[in-house]
Amino acid sequence: MPVDLRKKKIIVTGGATGIGRSVALRVSANGAKVAVFDINSLEGASTVNKINNSGGNARYWHVDVSDEIGVSGGVEAANNWLEGIDILIHMAGILEGAGIEVDNLSENIWDSVLDVNLRGTYLICKYVSSIMKKSSHGIIILAASPAGVTGTSSSLAYGASKGGVHGFTMVLQNDLSKYGIRVNDIAPGSVKTPLKVENVKLMHKKNYKNFSLEKEIDELISPDDVAKIIAFMASEDAKELKGTVFTN
Ligand SMILES: NC(=O)c1ccc[n+]([C@@H]2O[C@H](COP(=O)([O-])OP(=O)(O)OC[C@H]3O[C@@H](n4cnc5c(N)ncnc54)[C@H](O)[C@@H]3O)[C@@H](O)[C@H]2O)c1
Repeated sequence: MPVDLRKKKIIVTGGATGIGRSVALRVSANGAKVAVFDINSLEGASTVNKINNSGGNARYWHVDVSDEIGVSGGVEAANNWLEGIDILIHMAGILEGAGIEVDNLSENIWDSVLDVNLRGTYLICKYVSSIMKKSSHGIIILAASPAGVTGTSSSLAYGASKGGVHGFTMVLQNDLSKYGIRVNDIAPGSVKTPLKVENVKLMHKKNYKNFSLEKEIDELISPDDVAKIIAFMASEDAKELKGTVFTN
């Protein structure tokens, strides 16, 4: 039985590729009207075309989540088009600096990863929550990662940013619950997306692994299986869900 998201108005960031794209397709198939934010306009347009060609209702905005003016304008435009925001599913993120130890890690890599993954999370929540507070309801789902809590990340900056997202989620949940806004994050295991496949290839090369790269890629989980969990998290059936959802 599909999760019921009929009449829900949803912003999906990072909806051009990977998990965000699968989420946009799935929530639309479950009845939602979807605003897609990304910086990859070609693939972003492809996501919304696919939705609109199959009877859904989606629109794309070029929004860099680390840019406050862009986020503020994008959220305002999406709010006008959607006529309200019920749900934010924030999947935009980057992974850089894999395999580099701290003494060789450049400030540029550190700053760009923290800017997109952590500052971007703060900025999108800042502008979306202000709208949700006025309507006294909302659901926010953020992209964390086991990389932020288990020490298994190949990138220090990525691990730090995702640990930050966990902490941010917990405090935000406390702050916003009194306005009827529920906040969760999801920490997916290794998912077959452009981000992860590139990372697996890079680490395979760096570690001179002698087992099959193809097998490692084949074992990654499907983004649609993660999207199904996120769609459930976005539904009323998950109203008692608190904190982080880990998948493996
Ligand atoms: N793939 C995994 O195994 C995995 C595991 C744990 C967590 N995650 C997290 O899930 C989220 C989605 O990752 P994915 O694997 O689908 O990666 P992906 O690279 O396929 O998708 C990320 C999307 O974010 C967009 N993006 C990047 N920078 C942006 C910016 N500044 N503003 C707006 N959009 C931007 C990209 O264009 C892309 O469409 C990320 O936050 C990632 O850290 C992924």
